[in-house]
Amino acid sequence: MFRLDGKVALVSGAGRGMGLGVAQALAQQGAHVIVNDFYAERAHEAVQSLRAQGWQADAAPADMTDRAAIFAMTQQTQSAHGGVDIFVHNAGIPAQGWGYTPFLDSPPSEWDAWLSLNLHGLMHACQALLPTMLERRWGRIVAVNSDAARTATGMGLCAYGAAKAAAIGFIRNLSGEVGRHGVTVNAVSLGTMNNWEGSEQIARKTTTVGRAGSPQDVGAAISFLVSPQSEWINGQVLPVNGGSLVA
Ligand SMILES: NC(=O)c1ccc[n+]([C@@H]2O[C@H](COP(=O)([O-])OP(=O)(O)OC[C@H]3O[C@@H](n4cnc5c(N)ncnc54)[C@H](O)[C@@H]3O)[C@@H](O)[C@H]2O)c1
Repeated sequence: MFRLDGKVALVSGAGRGMGLGVAQALAQQGAHVIVNDFYAERAHEAVQSLRAQGWQADAAPADMTDRAAIFAMTQQTQSAHGGVDIFVHNAGIPAQGWGYTPFLDSPPSEWDAWLSLNLHGLMHACQALLPTMLERRWGRIVAVNSDAARTATGMGLCAYGAAKAAAIGFIRNLSGEVGRHGVTVNAVSLGTMNNWEGSEQIARKTTTVGRAGSPQDVGAAISFLVSPQSEWINGQVLPVNGGSLVA
């Protein structure tokens, strides 16, 4: 079950963190993984680590906020591999840095940075990749989202939460346009993950599982959502949050 042999999977922001976990999981299931990252070196290092496991991978560095760069990368990937079957938009935290900013102090340029990566980057990539998926009548798109889209974090994440919520509105509507053509569009909503300091302590209190989430947890959930067996799941947001938010 859930094998991905013969599929080509593009994962954005896969040079480290959750994206690398997704790339590992999809490659382990047999997919040929295309590792995108803003930082070319990071993408190439990730590819080396995947190949060292005997898995298939190639690097495709590009800035997922730049429409022209996204189209150039996807065209190159499609002509090298005959098409992309699976797209996971994981890049969601700006590579150039970010901070927790209370709303009243947050400049509009910061709002734009979150939106251009989490919403517009996803939309550009979908416009680039969907024509081939629709032609082949098979495709899987998954956006990595956050519980910050539906909670009052109180952590200075208004623009981030708004951008993630916008992406959910987009995937739900897109799923209605492409579902009948063999393409599903879903999201995973992540909770407190284990790649930042203090997360384990918070997650022990706020999750029912009692720990922070790992890149492997995200990889497992997305492997299922992009598999041939998940074809009846469309337009959904799957919480992957250790049970911290259950409604
Ligand atoms: N870490 C958490 O606690 C947490 C919680 C909820 C949701 N998420 C979501 O999970 C996803 C991954 O988060 P992470 O913690 O693994 O992040 P991370 O910062 O560890 O890794 C993200 C990767 O994306 C790359 N990236 C950033 N901007 C890019 C761009 N413009 N183009 C291409 N690549 C780019 C970075 O270079 C980096 O390698 C994000 O969508 C984030 O919003 C994370």
